[in-house]
Amino acid sequence: MQDETRLNGLTWPERDSSKATTVNPPIYKGSTVIFERYADMLQISQKKYQGITYGTDRLPTQRQFEEALRELEGGHITRAFQSGIAAIQTTLMAFCKSGDHILLCDNAYSPGQHFCKTILKKFNVDCTLIPPNVGADIEQYIQENTVLILLESPGSITFELQDIRAIVAVAKQKNIVTVMDNTWATPLFLKPLALGIDVSIHSVTKYISGYSDVLAGAVTVGEKYSAIFAKFYKIMEIYTPAEECYLSLRGLHSLGPRLRQHEQSALNIAQWLASHRLIDQVLHPALPTHPEHHLWKRDFTGSSGLFSFTFKDDYSEEEMGRFIDALQLFHLGFSWGGYKSLVTAGKIKRTTPCRYENKTIVRLNIGLEAVEDLQKDLDAALSRLP
Ligand SMILES: Cc1ncc(COP(=O)(O)O)c(C=O)c1O
Repeated sequence: MQDETRLNGLTWPERDSSKATTVNPPIYKGSTVIFERYADMLQISQKKYQGITYGTDRLPTQRQFEEALRELEGGHITRAFQSGIAAIQTTLMAFCKSGDHILLCDNAYSPGQHFCKTILKKFNVDCTLIPPNVGADIEQYIQENTVLILLESPGSITFELQDIRAIVAVAKQKNIVTVMDNTWATPLFLKPLALGIDVSIHSVTKYISGYSDVLAGAVTVGEKYSAIFAKFYKIMEIYTPAEECYLSLRGLHSLGPRLRQHEQSALNIAQWLASHRLIDQVLHPALPTHPEHHLWKRDFTGSSGLFSFTFKDDYSEEEMGRFIDALQLFHLGFSWGGYKSLVTAGKIKRTTPCRYENKTIVRLNIGLEAVEDLQKDLDAALSRLP
């Protein structure tokens, strides 16, 4: 079955002639769950009860969303979270203990790195930042106590890719858990678990929910580590709001056509920018000029709508403001993956050597507006620059 059909068949409708069967499932919200008999409640302490016990025990709306994503990712279990960053933090905590060491790609979502350097450090977990285009050379960063590697390929500001297959080969030999932030590609364009990655994370806030009105995250785990993760999640009693799970499940149904539109428009704009007189580099993995284009071609089946570019000249903040404030269709704001085009810009700070040292990086989230209008908007704003 193709992914598109899978996205529409999933967990509902449940045919029941005594109730109205709507196309979409009802929203289950609640704290207390009513038991039918005292004997059922007694079974909980004997660990025999099969039903849902409480609001934090993953009510049906959450379970439906999780099951839909699990199937798409090809995982053993999926768990929902209240945000993408909560999904990252919980994953790191689930697999680390005091005295452990973890490796983080230097282009991974920076609040995740900050969590490691502050909170995990407080609990005596050490972390090393590694080059964002790492591959088999990851071996040199591995220590006796390394337990986890966090990847983000491509990183969602500078778009370097890691050699997933080479990293997985090394990690498997040493029993190190590999974790991929798969938010950029979504499970439609990259299947990390099929490439041997152990854990795939999403900021569901982005493409999966798709409308910039949801904050949610998800973690999908392959069989080997699923019991550890499921147990940790249960102990943490994480509650993901039912409305967010409902909207995320709804978003999944239209992910295919939305993503293909984002992909096509972003490619058009990226190619046009690449030949613009003011632009130096366009950081888009699907362009043959991208340094890791071969890895994208090998492992991915598509590209989404987020990419960056740099200028030939070094513009002042005031000049950058003239360009950005002139944009009419690109709004200035954080996050991405929604229908509205967005822009952010700035210089990045890295621990490892960076290709774009001291360069201003402009990041575009290409939305679902007509691509001709987006191009005209960018062209007009770029003409404000000297
Ligand atoms: C790649 C990536 N992962 C994770 C996150 C965190 O997601 P959330 O905003 O849902 O906490 C973001 C947010 O921008 C992101 O870009």
